Amino acid sequence: MTDLSPEHASTLARLLAQVAAASAAEDLRAIGREALEKGGVVADLLASIPTLPPAERKGAGQAANRIKAELEAAIDARKRELEDGALLASRKVEGFDATLRAPRVERGALHPITQVVRELEDLFTSMGFEVLDGPEIELDWYNFEALNIPRDHPARDMQDTFRCDPAGELVLRTHTSPVQVRAMEKRRPPIRAIAPGKVFRQETTDASHEHTFHQMEGLVVDEDVSVGHLIHTMKTLLRGVFGKDIEVRLRPGYFPFVEPGFELDARCPFCKSGCSVCKQSTWIELLPCGMVHENVLRAGGIDPAKYSGFAFGLGLSRLVMLRYGIDDVRHLLSGDARFLRQFHRIG
Ligand code: PHE
Repeated sequence: MTDLSPEHASTLARLLAQVAAASAAEDLRAIGREALEKGGVVADLLASIPTLPPAERKGAGQAANRIKAELEAAIDARKRELEDGALLASRKVEGFDATLRAPRVERGALHPITQVVRELEDLFTSMGFEVLDGPEIELDWYNFEALNIPRDHPARDMQDTFRCDPAGELVLRTHTSPVQVRAMEKRRPPIRAIAPGKVFRQETTDASHEHTFHQMEGLVVDEDVSVGHLIHTMKTLLRGVFGKDIEVRLRPGYFPFVEPGFELDARCPFCKSGCSVCKQSTWIELLPCGMVHENVLRAGGIDPAKYSGFAFGLGLSRLVMLRYGIDDVRHLLSGDARFLRQFHRIG
């Protein structure tokens, strides 16, 4: 290491002594500034180099670097010492017990419905669908009229509706189907969309009925859309959810906004010859669906002579129950941490 002139050696010794005596981080910073910044010993030494005879320049540069390096190392070391000292001092406070466990930070997780919705969103967006949202407080028009359910239609009795105003113009949506019409109003075909969300019905709650539950609407509108496209999409959905190919069948089903309308059943994914989930039938009622009724296309501003479409209404709450073997729909919105903790996984 470069030798320092006696003058520089004593400057360094003085600075190191100051560092050793410092009792606060600010003092250390001040010592550093004083020595290293403009006007300080090191800076002066460096600034003097051009005025020195060439033979002495190298030595002066090296001396400046040595002072700087030693000073910085000493400042760092003293800083660490002071920090450790502060920690030790805080541990000496009365009542400190190093053997106590640190409080555990609880790691949260996504609700099983959110987990399934996210999976379905990934699946459907990979098929070119967009994910739409709609209002939970809905106009009677979108919830019923535009879906081919006029005021006096008996089909209104199928859905016990929470009404929000005396005139009956506003309802808590009873299904996600109103998003179909909202989607058509704002887009031109081809339309491919899903709309997951909460729906509400005035139900007497029991293990399979709840006033608030989740559905996911699906809508495809394009030229020449057929029941074949619907079946294919539903099979893809089932493969995504259950991880294997699952046979489906259609039964006739009645909903005023589809024609023809179907109930789609899936082969029970849990058994071959009957179990409690499929009630020994090997079939599970999966979802209602059908070809979009021409009145609904018209309500959405789409020409039924040119376009056709299919729609389905997946009962998300039911699907989540099937998937995880949950026996009571009321668990889902109970907010009971003992229930939710069973679904912890990184979502
Ligand atoms: N919206 C209907 C319901 O909740 C389900 C459905 C959706 C049926 C789409 C057919 C097509 O009862």
